[in-house]
Parts: sequence; structure tokens; C-alpha cells
Amino acid sequence: MGLEEHATILFSHVDKTYPGGNYALRDLNLSVLSGQLVCLIGPSGCGKTTTLRLINRLVEPSRGTIRVRGEDIQKLNPVALRRSIGYVIQDIGLLPHMTILENIELVPRLLGWDRKKRRERALELMEMVGLSPDEYAHRYPRELSGGQQQRVGVMRALAAEPDIILMDEPFGALDPLTRQKLQDELKKLQNRLKKTIVFVTHDMPEALKLADRIIIMKDGRIHQEGTPEEILRHPKDAFVTQFLGGNGQGPQTVADLMKEEAVTVRPGQGVAEAVAIMRRHRVNALLVVEGSQYLGVVTAAGLRRAAKETKRLADLMEDHPAVEPEEPLETALRLMLEEHLDLLPVVGKDRQLVGIVTPSSVVDALAFLIPQGANGEEPGL
Ligand SMILES: Nc1ncnc2c1ncn2[C@@H]1O[C@H](COP(=O)(O)OP(=O)(O)OP(=O)(O)O)[C@@H](O)[C@H]1O
Ligand SMILES: [Mg+2]
Repeated sequence: MGLEEHATILFSHVDKTYPGGNYALRDLNLSVLSGQLVCLIGPSGCGKTTTLRLINRLVEPSRGTIRVRGEDIQKLNPVALRRSIGYVIQDIGLLPHMTILENIELVPRLLGWDRKKRRERALELMEMVGLSPDEYAHRYPRELSGGQQQRVGVMRALAAEPDIILMDEPFGALDPLTRQKLQDELKKLQNRLKKTIVFVTHDMPEALKLADRIIIMKDGRIHQEGTPEEILRHPKDAFVTQFLGGNGQGPQTVADLMKEEAVTVRPGQGVAEAVAIMRRHRVNALLVVEGSQYLGVVTAAGLRRAAKETKRLADLMEDHPAVEPEEPLETALRLMLEEHLDLLPVVGKDRQLVGIVTPSSVVDALAFLIPQGANGEEPGL
């Protein structure tokens, strides 16, 4: 088909068998279009990492062909191929004898970038993920926490500005706040630069937030693929339902899925207070409420942009879509998916705040979208 011919990554009938006849992948046909972010998701051992490693020839297929940027990768020099593709590996993989800066500059150096350009790029990336170069540039990986090391791994993959990036559970070891921040950065980066990204995750809210397409794998095969919306609406069977976390009997309206305890602030409170509250509750946005009336949202990004003079939150508040409790669940889901929102305030009469919808409540609610007794399974209790 026309589209497939133009795929940036194209697997045709790929098998991977390990000695002893263990199938890691069976007849895998996969295409990733240019500029797409595709999430691979599935149970442990289903072949996600193997799929990534086939793309940069860290693993060779037992059968079938793989094309990258239109070329059969068997005919390419594997080292050159690897340097042209960013790779964040599952267990971070920083080089222990190199400093953080040297780790980040590694691929640009191998690609022959000049010193100044390399350094500028590395420092820019460190700022971006919140690791102050003054403090961290000259440390060694063992002197960083697991989450910090993971951020360095992500930076290393981005450093040479490759058009294709493979990410194997890159945010797994991060606290929720940093995780959300990096998810947002990744999404922004991809919107701006249209990288082609294959992203492995175990976390369905993460996949729903990031992916243009989700590929659910099972036993070395693609079990179902589609846009987040398609998968939510038409899960193929009980396996997908279960993987999505549904039980066949879900809520119907926003009120059924919202959480009642939202983290709120008052418009008269200050920036430092808001930051402290975000830290304590591990959230990256707060609902601004006067009395119990919903006024708007302050985000971590908004606070970061705030000028030095102390400002009241009232000055930093952003307009943000809200829903009403009686609205159908689907309205909230669609809004969150299409707008890539991390939260959705729920307001009643006179803009009274009554609750909040978050990505995890979305996952809890998936059952609603799933046909009753999918594949003849009894709805669980
Ligand atoms: N070098 C190897 N030798 C033999 N079997 C292997 C090898 N590497 C992977 N496998 C097997 O291939 C299958 C797929 O492994 P893979 O690492 O791709 O899974 P995964 O989906 O990434 O899992 P996880 O979510 O746990 O990271 C597994 O059954 C695994 O045991
Ligand atoms: Mg893996």
C-alpha cells in the first residue's frame, strides 16, 4: 500500500527465534510512519525490547526484512545505522567511566560534531530536563539517583538530533512529577520536530497521552493496533480489556469517574506556596478555587515562567477546559485525549468545583467503552 511504502520503519514477516527454538517474535508486520510516535505495550516477555533492537541491528532477524528510511537495513553498515538512531535502553546504560556531560556528548562526538556545538547542545538538554549543568555536568553516573540517570539516558538519545528515536521504558524509574514533565517535553519536541519515535511502556495512561498509535503486543505478535481512541472504543477482546484495566462494567458519566479530592489553591496565594503544594502532592497542576468556585488552573510550567517578583496565583492562572458531572464520560475522555490534558476540573452549578478527572481515572473508566461481555467473557465482579 502507498502509505506503507513511505513508512520510516517497516517490518515485513519478521521472526526472531533464539537458540532452542524460542520464538521472541512471530511474523511481525509493523509500520511506523514518519513523524509518528508509536507506543509498544504488552506483558513482560512479549517481544517489545526485541522489536526495538531489531530496528538498530543490535539483534538480527531470523526471517523477514526490516526497512528503515526505505532501505533494507541488512545492506547498511550497522554502526552507522546505530549512530543515526537515538536509543534509550531499558536499564539506562550510561557509561560509568564517563561524566554526565561526556555521556550526553557521546554520539555527537562520534558523529564528528565540533566541540562548541556539542557542548551547547548538551547544556541545553541538561537545562531542559532540570539537571543543573553546574551541579551535574562533571559527576559520574553512580553519583546520580536512578531517576536522574534515566534523564541522562533520555538526553543522550536526543543529543545528536536523530530523526528516529527508540525509547525502551524511558520514564519507568521517575517520580510522577518528573515523569509528567518529561512526557510533556517529549510530546512538545515531537510536535515541533516531527521525530519518528518508537516508545515502549508498561503504563497505559502514558501510552494514551503520548501515542499517535498504540501497538498492543502478545506472545511475539501484534495483538491489536490503532489510535488511542480506536483502542479505547473497540478493544479487540478480553486480553485488551484486561490490559486496559477494565472489568466490563464501568461508569457512565463524568460524576462516576471523577475523584472528589482535588488539590486546590486560592488566587491570593503565592508562587512559592504553590510550588510547595505541588511538591507535596506530586502533581504538576493545581486548581485555583475561591470559596468553592473554580477559577482556573496553575501549571508547573506556568510557575516556572513566572517573573522573579512574587506574583499572586491570580496573575498566573490559565483558562482550562472543564466538564460538568452530568456529561457523558466520553466527552471527558475525548477532551483529555485530543487536548492532551493531564487533568480536567469538574464543575457544577455556578462553577462550583466538585471533582477532578485525571489520566488514571480515565484508565479506571475504560470499562464503559468496552462492549458488554467482550468475546463472550462474563463481566467480572
Ligand atoms: N538473548 C536471548 N536469548 C534467549 N531468549 C531471549 C533473549 N532475549 C530475549 N529473549 C526472549 O525473547 C522474549 C522477548 O523478550 P523481550 O526482551 O523482547 O521482551 P519485552 O517485551 O521487552 O519484556 P519486558 O517488558 O520484560 O522488558 C522473551 O521470552 C525473552 O525471554
Ligand atoms: Mg523489555
